[in-house]
Amino acid sequence: MRLEVLPAAVWAATVAETLSHRLRSRPHLRLCLATGRTPTPVYAALGADTLTSATVILLDEFGGLPPGHPARCETMLRAALRSGVKPRKVIVPEVDRPDLAAACRDFDRAIGQGGIDLAILGLGRNGHLGMNEPGSSVSAPTRVIRLAPETRESARGYGADPVPDWGITAGLNQVLAAGEVWLLVTGSHKSAILKQTLEGPIGPDVPATYLRDHPAATVWADADAAAGMSAG
Ligand code: PGA
Repeated sequence: MRLEVLPAAVWAATVAETLSHRLRSRPHLRLCLATGRTPTPVYAALGADTLTSATVILLDEFGGLPPGHPARCETMLRAALRSGVKPRKVIVPEVDRPDLAAACRDFDRAIGQGGIDLAILGLGRNGHLGMNEPGSSVSAPTRVIRLAPETRESARGYGADPVPDWGITAGLNQVLAAGEVWLLVTGSHKSAILKQTLEGPIGPDVPATYLRDHPAATVWADADAAAGMSAG
């Protein structure tokens, strides 16, 4: 796994420019995108037309919040993008359907038609990827999942009230099959879990450690998150 450490002041612009460059050479890229605080400034820095031909697969979604709620992942993603930045197609986990098992199957089917070229992920404070919480196996499927306390706390921070206790997440089997994965990590509050991700034992206690076995994974960290680690 490659570690790129950037000064906090240029972190978002650099990641956004790298993504824009990628989209210029491969406009039809199939992107799986996380939401949350970390990637938001990257998405906000994307220029008009960047996603015009791309397919966006929303990594996960909270259950129990009404459509359009500001803490919903889809709402956060759309709010982050500047007006005029419109992906060709957006695939989301349909958490409002009565049959959640069918929603998971349909989400997987939609991903399965072309897979994921590039997954852009955040790092949970508990080491989760998407809502693949600690305890998730390397082949965990797309599923309804009960949220860990740290994830519920994040949802509270996004303005969710009541705080959801479940969601649908793309499985690790989907995410880890992506052609390329970027793990975005910013802030000193993430430095301990980033260190564990890079140096701790690979396994279900910290699902992000699975990325170390991925052939094309890059950590984009700002200097605050990477304090105490050296790029290599
Ligand atoms: P955050 O969330 O970017 O809001 O810190 C990351 C995550 O929980 O995956």
